[in-house]
Amino acid sequence: MDAAHALEIRSLTAGYQDAPVAVDVSVQLATSTIAALLGPNGAGKSTVLKALVGEARVFSGTVILQGQDVTGVPAERLAKKGLGYVPQNDNVFPSLSVYENLEMGAYLIPRRQVRSRIDAVLDQFPSLRPLSRREVSRLSGGERRLVAIARALLLSPAVLLLDEPTANLSPMNASLVLTEYVTQVAESGTGVLLVEQRAKEALGIAHHAYVLSSGRIEVSGPPSALLEREDIGRLFLGETARRAAVEG
Ligand SMILES: Nc1ncnc2c1ncn2[C@@H]1O[C@H](COP(=O)(O)OP(=O)(O)O)[C@@H](O)[C@H]1O
Ligand SMILES: [Mg+2]
Repeated sequence: MDAAHALEIRSLTAGYQDAPVAVDVSVQLATSTIAALLGPNGAGKSTVLKALVGEARVFSGTVILQGQDVTGVPAERLAKKGLGYVPQNDNVFPSLSVYENLEMGAYLIPRRQVRSRIDAVLDQFPSLRPLSRREVSRLSGGERRLVAIARALLLSPAVLLLDEPTANLSPMNASLVLTEYVTQVAESGTGVLLVEQRAKEALGIAHHAYVLSSGRIEVSGPPSALLEREDIGRLFLGETARRAAVEG
């Protein structure tokens, strides 16, 4: 077992009720790096993340977090063990301030440590500090995403699962989230498993990428290798999109 791997997903098959959606998915994520999980809508990307945190059913396979088998461990214990998760619809509380939102994320931290952890996270994202008393409803879309990410970082996760952090953002805000915020998370030592629809932008910041198609990993490798492939459009857009393009 390579100790440098913050997260290893081994042959995971997962889905809902009796139906597997993601099949035989294996992912390796090194400390302080970003692994991108790409693929067309409906490919099963979110299902892989949900399976890790107990929100989708695991049929088979193993999840190793920092060398420890955590398959099927309940979400709250997983959070304590160092797995952070920001779901696709980041459930920040719009009517609370940034600081109050961060406090909500600190529920697993001993009370006397909450202020210093919030301080540490505000240090990590200096642009957030002047906004800390502002109501989240008055933030930009990109700033809101940052609140969701910062909240997950309060527990100092070894691994952060990010499900489409750029969804519904303007291109400018999306670029800010990926090149500034997500990159900063990895630079601070947290491994990031990043699910993204914006494949090209994600490949621009990732160290390794996996492309999921109909629930299976069709190709994986360093971003440079993926960008060279002729079938890249098909891989990222999916079979239907390709047929539509070919048939005009
Ligand atoms: N809670 C659920 N119950 C049943 N099927 C689901 C559920 N969530 C997602 N699915 C199905 O799983 C498939 C993959 O979805 P998802 O993992 O969300 O894809 P992606 O994130 O790649 O767009 C889709 O066909 C979707 O309809
Ligand atoms: Mg999804």
